[in-house]
Amino acid sequence: MSETKHIVDLSPAVQYEVRGDVAVIRLANPPVNGLGDSIRTGLSAGITAAHDDVVRAVVIVGAGKGFCGGADLREFGTPAAAVKPSVPDVFDQIQALPKPVVAAIHGFALGGGLELALVCNYRIAQTGATIGLPEVNVGLLPGAGGTQRLPRLIGTAEALNMIQNGTTVTAARAAELGIVDHCVPGDPLDAALAFLSNGVPRGSAAPVIDQRPPASGDGVDFDAARRRVRPSTRNRVAQLAAIDAVEAATTHRIDDGLALEREAFVRLVDSPEAKALRHVFFAEKHAAKVADIDRATAPRPIERVAVIGAGTMGTGIAMAFANGGFPVDLIEQNTEALDRGVATIRRNYEATAAKGRLTAQQVEQRLALIEPHLDLHAASTADLVVEAVFEDMAVKREVFAKLDIICKPGAVLASNTSRLDVNELARTVSRPQDVIGLHFFSPANVMKLLEVVRGDATADDVVVTSLAVAQKIAKVPVLSKVCDGFIGNRMLSPYRREADFLLEEGATPDRVDRVLQDFGLAMGPFAMSDLAGLDIGWAARKRLAPTRPKHLRYSRVDDVLCEGGRFGQKTGSGYYRYVNGSRTPVPDPEVDAVIRRCAAEAGIDRREISDAEIVDRCILALVNEGAKILGEGIAQRASDIDVVYVDGYGFPASRGGPMYYAQNLGLEEVLRRIREFEVVHGEYWSPAPLLEQAVRNGSTSFQ
Ligand code: NAI
Repeated sequence: MSETKHIVDLSPAVQYEVRGDVAVIRLANPPVNGLGDSIRTGLSAGITAAHDDVVRAVVIVGAGKGFCGGADLREFGTPAAAVKPSVPDVFDQIQALPKPVVAAIHGFALGGGLELALVCNYRIAQTGATIGLPEVNVGLLPGAGGTQRLPRLIGTAEALNMIQNGTTVTAARAAELGIVDHCVPGDPLDAALAFLSNGVPRGSAAPVIDQRPPASGDGVDFDAARRRVRPSTRNRVAQLAAIDAVEAATTHRIDDGLALEREAFVRLVDSPEAKALRHVFFAEKHAAKVADIDRATAPRPIERVAVIGAGTMGTGIAMAFANGGFPVDLIEQNTEALDRGVATIRRNYEATAAKGRLTAQQVEQRLALIEPHLDLHAASTADLVVEAVFEDMAVKREVFAKLDIICKPGAVLASNTSRLDVNELARTVSRPQDVIGLHFFSPANVMKLLEVVRGDATADDVVVTSLAVAQKIAKVPVLSKVCDGFIGNRMLSPYRREADFLLEEGATPDRVDRVLQDFGLAMGPFAMSDLAGLDIGWAARKRLAPTRPKHLRYSRVDDVLCEGGRFGQKTGSGYYRYVNGSRTPVPDPEVDAVIRRCAAEAGIDRREISDAEIVDRCILALVNEGAKILGEGIAQRASDIDVVYVDGYGFPASRGGPMYYAQNLGLEEVLRRIREFEVVHGEYWSPAPLLEQAVRNGSTSFQ
């Protein structure tokens, strides 16, 4: 390649060098070369310098892991965002340079990173790079020309699909779509320099996308696209704005389209939905960080995984690991259960393939990674064992005692228990430091959340290993300490309790579910119970009955339904009726009669209940328990609790999670309402000490 003349730092984040007659502008703002003020200033200075006569062309390249990850979300709403030049200013400058500019992309060009590439004259990407405009995922739309330039470049239908859904594509697919001019296996900078020396005309203004006329509509029905965005969609406002903007690319001149896009972007940045989605985005990233573990702690190598139990959870967990490329030994105690489990896995993969999301070859590859066994000794070669047998301490203790003998030294011994004591399990083995809880959610191959339950004796490197492995299988891990139900299920108890009490006080299951669904929850508590099965909770209540404090209110509704054989969907009736095997809940007068009878027996006068009370009683019950969990140090941070509820329990991401919701409502107001409930309903509503303390200190957040 041509000799380097000099390298100059144009800003702390941008380097400039001239190789032969080509200026190379290198973005170097780790971790993602975000378009913060120092990249903007440096890039602008680089383009100015490239006006020099010795420079005949420019290559923009990223340092480190990728080309550019787009806007710096951390800058939003801060003074740094207002530092000139703005992103559009820099983009204008690039397009006005009368010399060819090539974007040399490796790793990723996402959001503003792809928009930067779209104002260059050419794009060359390395195979494996990820390319897309994912802004809608954080409640925004591409705000630096993406909605106007991508449709002009690749056509409206494909552009709308990518922008509205925030999907990313590989460089190879980007080349097929025409987003990039060339896809190369090697260094994209070398490829760009070679490309420039092989016949790209120098010295003249090469064509840019902005010179193209509005995109052809491709027959896209924009109204139908708007109608398809369901009211419950987490980023509904952003998706609708994205559709409007792409439509404008088919009708408006570029400047008018850009102005319209900018206006929508500015409006969205400050919307409650986008702020909440940004909160969830950062909360998910922070969740994997552990404050009290040395960052240098190395994870243990995990190459082979064993899953014990091939029931509902074991099959899903085995698939989750196979999806992440891990070989899995799936171990059952009897042939029938094992065959059923393997058949379930095959059926699931084939259903995914039928939807076009896996090829037949991928199905076979994943199935080949899962080896079924009937002998626990098959766990002897595993680096990580996940136990998913019945939720029974005696059964689990026995399995752990055997694993202690069978497993190799240093193997991580995990339990998928949803509420049993991980410390007690650890005490059954000679190596308690290797024991941890890995609480997957059902279906485990789909749900993103993984509660990582750190026992009193769990070694730091076992925690680090679990967090790392979770990320390898595309889960969002949240660390919890040991308590009954950990973070998520512990919070669910008071939430369900209040929903039950509301029935006795005057509401119906259908009404409570509808109000909470209107609030944004994926499913109301009673439809959810019917789906999960009422018998499991009933068994637990019977077990715990002797220890229940007698002076506290207790709703009998659930027990009476179970006594009548109503276990939910699986028996065709629960809080609702399910007609002829349908999964659609139908309100049932018999249930209303049970509720009225229980209320009368408990001496409760039924009354009118407002929608607002339903929301407050259920959601503030979550918030108060969440604050207790945080105060006790079970969760590391309030935002971790938000991640648990958004990713594991269908809490609306557009409201940021229960703790974020409370902070938005105002902690003083939250405490006031909780104290009012305490006056009426008694000690169940005693405020969390952390909440009281936050209000006393005048704090607007839990931390
Ligand atoms: P399941 O009853 O569907 O499956 C348990 C399986 O373990 C059965 O197939 C059984 O044959 C097998 N098994 C029992 N003893 C065994 C042994 N000694 N060796 C090998 N296999 C054995 O139960 P499910 O629902 O999969 O639950 C498993 C665990 O996951 C429980 O601890 C449960 O609390 C937890 N969990 C369940 C969730 C759910 O939604 N079902 C959600 C999260 C956790």
